[in-house]
Amino acid sequence: YVLGLDLGTSGLKGILVNKEGKIVDEASSDYPLLTPKRGFSEQDPLEWFRAAKEVMQEIFKSTSDAKEKLEGISFSGQMHSLVLLDEKDDVLRNAILWNDVRTTKQCDFITDNVDNLIAITKNKALEGFTLPKILWVKDNEPEIFAKVSTFLLPKDYLGFRLTGSKQMEYSDAAGTLLLDVESRTWSEEVAKAVDVPSSIFPELVQSQAKIGDLDPALAEELGLKNTVPVFSGGADNPCAAVGAGIVRPDQGMASIGTSGVFLSYEETGDKNYNGHLHYFNHVVPNAFYTMGVTLAAGSSLNWFKKTFAPNESFEELLKGVKDIKPGSDGLLFAPYISGERTPYTDSNIRGTFLGMDIAHTRDHFARAVLEGITFSLRDSFELMKKHSNKDFKQIVSVGGGAKNPDWLQMQADIFGTPVVTLETEQGPAMGSAMIAAVGAGWFDSFEACSEVFVNYKSEVQPDPEAVSHYNKVYANYKEVYPTIKDLS
Ligand code: XUL
Repeated sequence: YVLGLDLGTSGLKGILVNKEGKIVDEASSDYPLLTPKRGFSEQDPLEWFRAAKEVMQEIFKSTSDAKEKLEGISFSGQMHSLVLLDEKDDVLRNAILWNDVRTTKQCDFITDNVDNLIAITKNKALEGFTLPKILWVKDNEPEIFAKVSTFLLPKDYLGFRLTGSKQMEYSDAAGTLLLDVESRTWSEEVAKAVDVPSSIFPELVQSQAKIGDLDPALAEELGLKNTVPVFSGGADNPCAAVGAGIVRPDQGMASIGTSGVFLSYEETGDKNYNGHLHYFNHVVPNAFYTMGVTLAAGSSLNWFKKTFAPNESFEELLKGVKDIKPGSDGLLFAPYISGERTPYTDSNIRGTFLGMDIAHTRDHFARAVLEGITFSLRDSFELMKKHSNKDFKQIVSVGGGAKNPDWLQMQADIFGTPVVTLETEQGPAMGSAMIAAVGAGWFDSFEACSEVFVNYKSEVQPDPEAVSHYNKVYANYKEVYPTIKDLS
């Protein structure tokens, strides 16, 4: 077996996977999100360790042969969240999480002071990233900053607690805004420009690198019989991508959860997206990925249901959309209800319905919401095609968008590309188990592991007539943002 531990924002989930890629057991444990002030979002790193121990205890209890047969552990983790350690490796303050938005001032400072920010880090300074959080601590808690000996990201802290070894792998380091993404080295230039000592940067390793063996005292406490190697792991988004089989350039992943992500594999780190997409190191060695984010994807649909159909299930709300024609008879929705990330990075913009007609029914509105969310992901898909000459052969749909057959057909038609869903969807946890499987030597590459671990249901084919109609509607959709941006 291998064990994949996904350290999420609300809890930690563990899956025990066998050599055929089948989930044998799973467990999870939650921890609180702390919001000491509006816009602040924090967590106690010790809670992550507690949750990981609890999950392992539960799994080893219910699948007792795992105690002898476990061949590796790895992680996936929430990205960007800052853990600060002192010289004794004690945690200096609660972790400041990826969804904390206190750092606008520090982002402006980075943008103004780092000349080659996008050329080096491939990304714009956004509140979610790690460097602005480090600078916030420097500006607001100088007594804590003075004691910082190392900074880590959540899953790297967990790796440290499990093995005693401090390191960070490339896919997570890329989200700090301190990595030279193309050359995979810490950027002295960025560190110098913002006056952060490079002595606090941990050693960089590959995702499947062995970072150590499970701490013997912990192994004994868990009742393990053998020495278990622990592998570094990856950031949750590329882990989700690997778990969805995104290990080749001709596939994309459309993930519709609260927010929406469109992600694709990149073979090289030299494309110029000028910060319009996130461009990070993949967990697959020497590969990269690009990612666009729609802030309100599933949450647009949640908002619509809560506001107009509070007593119905999603199934009831959406059962009529198949009777409405592609393009919702002229009704268009732009899902900017909490601002938009890709491609505009505009937190002030707000959503809109356009083209309401006296003949429109609620089903038109429901369909327009699904279409609008998908158009917003198409913005990222188009950027990838344009700057990377990509020819997408298939899109893997995951999350809420994969559950509704009518929405899947809309995705195939709006992307003009066949869409598939996974036989079993495990999110980033599956990616972390695959890292452990490659690390343990079960496979010599992520591609080979994916052949065994990732299985798809049958393809949903685009309908040529709908594709051509959606191309026209999408051209209108692209005009919405520039038209309304000064009105919001
Ligand atoms: C990515 C991001 C989130 C977190 C969630 O840039 O901020 O998707 O990784 O854990």
